[in-house]
Amino acid sequence: MAYSDLRAFLADLGDDLLRIRDEFDPRFEAAALLRTLPAEGPAVLFENVRAYPGARIAGNLIASRSRLARALGTTADALPRTWLERKEHGIAPIQARDAAPVKEVIHRHPDDLLSLLPILTHHEKDAAPFITTGVVLCTDPETGRRGMGIHRMMVKGGRRLGILLANPPIPHFLAKAEAAGKPLDVAIALGLEPATLLSSVVKVGPRVPDKMAAAGALRGEPVELVRAETVDVDIPARAEIVIEGRILPGVRELEGPFGENTGHYFSNVSPVIEISAVTHRDNFIYPGLCPWSPEVDALLSLAAGAELLGQLQGLIDGVVDLEMAGGTSGFSVVVAVHRTTAADVRRLVMLALNLDRRLKTITVVDDDVDIRDPREVAWAMATRYQPARDTVVIHGCEAYVIDPSATGDGTSKVGFIATRASGADSDRITLPPAALAKARAIIARLH
Ligand SMILES: Cc1cc2nc3c(=O)[nH]c(=O)nc-3n(C[C@H](O)[C@H](O)[C@H](O)COP(=O)(O)O)c2cc1C
Repeated sequence: MAYSDLRAFLADLGDDLLRIRDEFDPRFEAAALLRTLPAEGPAVLFENVRAYPGARIAGNLIASRSRLARALGTTADALPRTWLERKEHGIAPIQARDAAPVKEVIHRHPDDLLSLLPILTHHEKDAAPFITTGVVLCTDPETGRRGMGIHRMMVKGGRRLGILLANPPIPHFLAKAEAAGKPLDVAIALGLEPATLLSSVVKVGPRVPDKMAAAGALRGEPVELVRAETVDVDIPARAEIVIEGRILPGVRELEGPFGENTGHYFSNVSPVIEISAVTHRDNFIYPGLCPWSPEVDALLSLAAGAELLGQLQGLIDGVVDLEMAGGTSGFSVVVAVHRTTAADVRRLVMLALNLDRRLKTITVVDDDVDIRDPREVAWAMATRYQPARDTVVIHGCEAYVIDPSATGDGTSKVGFIATRASGADSDRITLPPAALAKARAIIARLH
């Protein structure tokens, strides 16, 4: 089932949505709660935002596997498979038939963005409030191809935003616009239903090159678009908020520091957006996403993790499952294999480290290990991995821009092979299934 918008998703959560009526400040307080909530904790809706009467802030929406699955109308176990199957059949967006809710309120040429939106300040040394779930939309000035991705944006005061353009394709579009001495029109959509948000950070390929068509595939229904008010960009009609503007040609300014998904601050010299309009729904919901939180892990686990799993399964026999290690910004994964030969496990390590630009460490285990349980993975590393024999290091790779450990020389990458060396089916201690079932039944009564 597709959710028509963020409101429909929230309405469906029932007890899994915590409504917070205490007053919360968008400066630090909302981020502190979002960071502190465990992944399996509820989604939250701040209904009383200091200095922003009528505005609400939502967060922790898809941090848990169960809510992520609900957002896509599937089960937690089927999450990667659901994405891999659906993305094969893109569903192109359509023009909205009715009036666009995102245009219920229109501010043309606003003087001060921060007086309109409760943009969160997240960490103590952040230079300013930052937008963390802004889906930036624009078109290639030459081909008309859509660009769509999450890019962090710094509130620079007045109607200016700094934007980190580290990933393709938007930096390429900007380079083309700049070569012609022109600005690049952009629209920033905020408060999308989760499937469309997820689609903005997936890797797309030749079969479904348009992330908006990938969103349709994931939803099972086309996304409804409408033309923006002041720029030549199509925007989701049912977003909560849209910021319209132009990336100024040739302008670069300090952007940051900002506490990133790596858990470290990162500054850059980045392009600048000049805002031309802000449109939003009545009583809009601003989407909060705290960097280095379980919700970021969830976004990356599907957007990058499921994709890498699909690629590896197409290349190597016996690849069963893949989990992105939480808190690593997608730099670290664990892969489970079933009876994969030693030679193929080495190939798998080399391939994975090269297929994903972000990936820096991979651990391969047998599928008797629960890859979502750090204790089990640590056990496999402690008892099946031999450092001198089972470590693969590759040098001279491109570093990911926000990795604080990388130097100008790029990065090295490492694979740990923690699979059984003996060739035996299992070398684990075991208990009789009947005894285990009895124990589990008693433990279940405790909850
Ligand atoms: C939470 C989150 C924040 C991101 N922030 C940025 C950003 O500030 N700048 C950027 O260029 N890319 C950022 N990205 C990544 C892009 O949206 C990226 O295009 C997307 O993940 C697709 O991956 P690919 O570029 O490796 O194909 C972010 C991704 C996520 C999940």
